[in-house]
Amino acid sequence: MSDAAIPLLLQSYLDNLVPERHPELRAMETAAAAEGFPIIGPACGHVCYLIARMIGARRIFELGSGFGYSTAWLARALRENGGGEVHHTVWDAALSAQARRHLTAMELADLVQFHCAEAIGVLREQSDTFDLIFSDIDKEDYPASLEVIEDRLRPGGVLIVDNMLWGNRIFDPAIDDPATRGVRRFTRMIGESERWSGAVLPIRDGLLLGLYRGR
Ligand SMILES: C[S@@+](CC[C@H](N)C(=O)[O-])C[C@H]1O[C@@H](n2cnc3c(N)ncnc32)[C@H](O)[C@@H]1O
Repeated sequence: MSDAAIPLLLQSYLDNLVPERHPELRAMETAAAAEGFPIIGPACGHVCYLIARMIGARRIFELGSGFGYSTAWLARALRENGGGEVHHTVWDAALSAQARRHLTAMELADLVQFHCAEAIGVLREQSDTFDLIFSDIDKEDYPASLEVIEDRLRPGGVLIVDNMLWGNRIFDPAIDDPATRGVRRFTRMIGESERWSGAVLPIRDGLLLGLYRGR
């Protein structure tokens, strides 16, 4: 086997370890693959669910939610934690409506606040803090989101951020587009800040796990 095949083999191994899930989640995975829509996938979804369960999250905010796949994993954790709310934010009305349909089919919509708007702005408008914040917005906006996240995540809360390997573009010094710069800068901001303890888990496209110490 060539070395190049190992990452794909590893990813499919990890995806296959995820326990059986709601048929609607399976259908969303099939639709995402057919449409080329970038969902976090089963292994990362399951990790997000586990973290939300482990910290007993009751208030979750998601930036850049797509058609509700990652939201569904987080909402399921809330249900098992005894209830709460997860905020779904996407600026595309069709995706927001699609998310509502999927979450309704899974009987999770009662836990979800749907916002069809720019995600950082919606987070800034929230008056209460959150136990967990998950971000999957446009990568060039990662650095600008951090100050707002620090305002709205409770000390001791957890931040999860997707695409920290950004299709391996972060490793190539010749690549210097705004999205790649955004991921690199955000990684440094977390790593160099005394407010955060963070690590990048090399699952799929890299999931940052950050513990917020507070200001
Ligand atoms: C990568 S997808 C999210 C996939 C989702 N995490 C999942 O696994 O199901 C990101 C979505 O958020 C939208 N988006 C990106 N930046 C945004 C922002 N700042 N505010 C609102 N939506 C945003 C994108 O257009 C896209 O529909």
